[in-house]
Amino acid sequence: MHKIFVLFFLTFAFSVSAQKRTNSQKVDSVLKLMTLEEKVGQLNQYNDNNLATGPVTIDNDKIGQIKSGQVGSLLNVLGSERTRSWQNVAMQSRLKIPLLFGQDVVHGYKTTFPIPLAEAASWDLDAIQLAARVAAVEASASGIHWTFAPMVDIARDPRWGRVMEGAGEDTYLGSLIAGARVKGFQGAHFGDTNAVMACVKHFAAYGAAVGARDYNSVDMSDRQLWEIYLPPFKAALDAGAASFMNSFNDINGVPATGNSYLQRTILKGKWGFKGFVVSDWGSINELVNHGFAKNDYEAAFSAITAGSDMDMESRSYKNNLEQLVKDKKVPVALIDDAVRRILLKKFELGLFDNPYKFSNVEREKLALNNASHTAAARSMAAKSIVLLKNENNLLPLSKQLKTIAFIGPLVKPLKQNKGFWDIEIPGVDSNFIVSQWEGLQNKVGATTNLLFAQGCEIEGDSKAGFAEAINIALQADVVILSIGERRDMSGEAKSKANITIPGVQEDLLKALLATGKPVVVLVNAGRPLVFNYTADNAPAILYTWWLGSEAGNAIADVLFGDYNPAAKLPMTFPVSVGQIPIYYNHFNTGRPAVSDTNHIYNSSYIDLSIHPKFPFGFGLSYTSFEYSDLKLSKHQFTKKETLEVSVTITNTGKYAGEEVVQLYLRDKVGSLVLPVKSLKDFKKVFLNVGESKKIKFLINNEKLSFYNAKLVWDSEPGDFDIMIGASSADIRLKDSFELIK
Ligand code: NOJ
Repeated sequence: MHKIFVLFFLTFAFSVSAQKRTNSQKVDSVLKLMTLEEKVGQLNQYNDNNLATGPVTIDNDKIGQIKSGQVGSLLNVLGSERTRSWQNVAMQSRLKIPLLFGQDVVHGYKTTFPIPLAEAASWDLDAIQLAARVAAVEASASGIHWTFAPMVDIARDPRWGRVMEGAGEDTYLGSLIAGARVKGFQGAHFGDTNAVMACVKHFAAYGAAVGARDYNSVDMSDRQLWEIYLPPFKAALDAGAASFMNSFNDINGVPATGNSYLQRTILKGKWGFKGFVVSDWGSINELVNHGFAKNDYEAAFSAITAGSDMDMESRSYKNNLEQLVKDKKVPVALIDDAVRRILLKKFELGLFDNPYKFSNVEREKLALNNASHTAAARSMAAKSIVLLKNENNLLPLSKQLKTIAFIGPLVKPLKQNKGFWDIEIPGVDSNFIVSQWEGLQNKVGATTNLLFAQGCEIEGDSKAGFAEAINIALQADVVILSIGERRDMSGEAKSKANITIPGVQEDLLKALLATGKPVVVLVNAGRPLVFNYTADNAPAILYTWWLGSEAGNAIADVLFGDYNPAAKLPMTFPVSVGQIPIYYNHFNTGRPAVSDTNHIYNSSYIDLSIHPKFPFGFGLSYTSFEYSDLKLSKHQFTKKETLEVSVTITNTGKYAGEEVVQLYLRDKVGSLVLPVKSLKDFKKVFLNVGESKKIKFLINNEKLSFYNAKLVWDSEPGDFDIMIGASSADIRLKDSFELIK
């Protein structure tokens, strides 16, 4: 195309008068100017050279390719100077189409928040939204436009390493969290300078990989897909999510990346999604490994046909799409649709007006040094800690204790607290973390003597450090033991067949308990672990997950009662891997188990309990709550009506605190069998000592509906049980009602 002609069109496309036109008209004007090679370029995403979050392909000519319009997006570009310098390169291309910078900002950018599974334990949607907001403020100041989060995969198998990245096992809780995180990332208005575009992943059913091996196959009924796995994606979309990422797994034999039913029929069809879908890292070319495509050419064909718009790191689109068009296998309209979706987001983000809008050294300095971000991280971390056990009210500890022995391999390390998917920004202090040791030091006064011994390593069988640990324990009033996983033991490609506490850490606990001193155990992990010795023998246990930059302070806040723990488990904790998959909302079966000892022709194990160690929704407080006065506004109603439910919660203990009041329903008879209970609502309430509050819930047709055999979402008339409780297994009040025609 003639240079002057192009210039004229570009000036028109981006000019002031052009701003009156809609973004979609602007996209059309740009699209008209593009060669096929440039169009394909917009669908091509590369990794920056410095950091890799997948198997890297060496490419020595990224600069040249960007200059010639062959790249639309980069991932893993960190820091405002670097995003700016790559954008400079794109501005040397013929059409000056800005690059999109994507990054896994999963639980914070500089300020690291708890891992998402831990945040989910807070059941605090405002706090979760705020955590995503802070991450967006920081990342956007570095020039990042797009986070590959939230991960909304439902996960019922703690062996899967990526459970740390999601909201756990429950569809209802997971859907609300998905929406809160999207809103937090994307901010008040799409395109705000302090916001990033969300990317909901992994579409779909990635969390149900067979045997919990990462990237493995998924085989599931349509009903389960729609009922359990898809709703969090829909909730994220309803919250405005601008992009989706597909997944590595095949589902019922069709890899998600080449899955037209998922991407075209459901997402872009039935749900009307107007944003774009990015593949997962290399997942287009992996269609060859799956045995779904003969070669890279066929893989590109399958993926674009199925609705994958952007190719992350496969180079399959770059290497094949032009040829596929020339061979008349792929209509150019299909390419145009994908390009249009991507350009639209670039326009909506305001990048055509100012490609450097987000990269700003000054703003970055301020955003990465903001005390309110640190405060939010500390509060989120405290809200994420689950009190699993507290015999004889050992916790909270007194600040007047004379000597505390803080023992274990996780007391002093800094980075272990960050968990998987942390970010290290070049030139920025990556030790911006409060260790557990420092947190305790910050908390206690000058009269308390703190002793430390590592005791053992996280892994390995050496007990050489036990003697020193026992020695300091004997001098202390109380022992705090910090044990668990290393931060790279849960995460992508970190599936485990054995999910017990590694090494000799539980032996160390045994040795410390033998001293007769009271021992408080902190369990650090990215997943539900199996830790029966600890659970049965330690008098007090806090599940501290991976809590991020403020871990040490938050743990100390909870240990000494400056924050009264209120978190509840978002996943069921098994007694043994033999129980997995184990989840609270199972069906009753025709022969339900009656007890752990009676195995006469019923659905149980002859050698293992069917009950979990800790159930979904479980978590203690330093205070106690009484549930009373369950009232239903009626006991019969039609699907057009709404039922009002009220219950009174009273703080009967000695500390002010919050309780997560959980509402479960059971549809007793259906055209399909239905779970023994399903979470349908919850409220987190704060109560002073002795205070009572009346909590109200509304039950409408939506809460009574399910996907029937025709995959229609609707309710069926009949009897329902309503259960209100402090966990899925601790139902305090019960009633029933009838839905009539
Ligand atoms: C692969 C992971 O599955 C995905 O979640 C992540 O966003 C990409 N790598 C990019 O790092």
